Amino acid sequence: MHCVRKVTDALWWVGANDRRTALFENIHPIPQGVSYNSYLLLDEKTVLFDCVDWSAAPRLVENVEHLLGGRELDYIVLHHLEPDHGAGLWAVLQKWPKAKLVSSLAAQRFIDQFGFAPIAAERITAKEGERLSFGKHAITFYAAPMVHWPDVMVSFEETEGILFSADAFGTFGALNGKLFNDELDFPHDWLPEARRYYTNIVGKYGPQVQALLTKAAALGDRLKLICPLHGPVWRSDLSWFIGKYDLWSRYEPEDQAVLLVYGSMYGGTEEAAEALAAALVERGVSVAMHDVSATHVSHLIAQSFRVSHIVLASPTYNMDFFPPMRDYLEDMKALGLKNRIFAVLENGTWNPNAGKLMGQFITQELTGCTLLETTLTMRSKLAKNQAPELGALADAIAGSIKG
Ligand code: FEO
Repeated sequence: MHCVRKVTDALWWVGANDRRTALFENIHPIPQGVSYNSYLLLDEKTVLFDCVDWSAAPRLVENVEHLLGGRELDYIVLHHLEPDHGAGLWAVLQKWPKAKLVSSLAAQRFIDQFGFAPIAAERITAKEGERLSFGKHAITFYAAPMVHWPDVMVSFEETEGILFSADAFGTFGALNGKLFNDELDFPHDWLPEARRYYTNIVGKYGPQVQALLTKAAALGDRLKLICPLHGPVWRSDLSWFIGKYDLWSRYEPEDQAVLLVYGSMYGGTEEAAEALAAALVERGVSVAMHDVSATHVSHLIAQSFRVSHIVLASPTYNMDFFPPMRDYLEDMKALGLKNRIFAVLENGTWNPNAGKLMGQFITQELTGCTLLETTLTMRSKLAKNQAPELGALADAIAGSIKG
């Protein structure tokens, strides 16, 4: 049975939802699933915009077949060839072998490398600024390399103001029957997963996202709809979501707030982190707190992009800081998080060293990140007479937030 949604009179969502895959890219947990969005244009020509993951290919074919009603499929426009979109091409070409493939040159290479084309379909290379007409509708291509792979292009449909944005403006989360952003409470229910999707999947490529946002801004009021490859279609409040992308891609925090991440082997560091969180809240500071051993790093990364201040509490472990904490900081470095203010607490039963080493990582490995001078060292656990030290650290963090 088909499952499609009308986007405009001529454009339909023909994608699929995936609630079975546990790890996106075999890395990031997606307990709320993910959608693979494809769109079908019915004009003088018929055009499929992007495909889906291999697991969802039968549903894509059934949806397209239903809407075509016996017509041929004339074009397949491929904005991005990562297999979560490209793998389904195999099944689509088996069904409609006369369709012309339109993509960047890099995408054509990836089609061949992955083996996504079972037949030698006609290929059209899309380049920046080129226009392709399908009847009443026409698209113009814009290159968006590294948002999120080098092959990525987006396109803008002129008559209805539709931006086919590839991975940009996507999010984790299955659609559950809803398609448009105004059919769900995005700020409340979806923003955390959208942030986690952006920061972990595209976060490293802030300058490239900024370049895309500049191109999108040039569209001005002509931009009416954003059709991404994951998550809802945007038909209202576009500037709100574009604003989030602008902040994230400039590595600017959304909130003047603290993310407190602690690692704790036997509870001593956790106890100190709890006391610090309480002291910060008493000073009017917004605090999110996570156990680094129990929280998937993709959540920590998303929260790190959100906040202005990050507090790290770690035991000393093999004369280094806690291994899960190192994984987190290495991920932060790999994704290019910048311009945050850090504070550290360290623990060590006989030779506390974690604070010094975390401080070195923050100041030497992370761009534009600074470390508050005030710190705290505990031996095994926070001693009763260290309450003034804890208060001083909380004062320093709160003072930094409040300026
Ligand atoms: Fe959703 Fe970069 O693929």
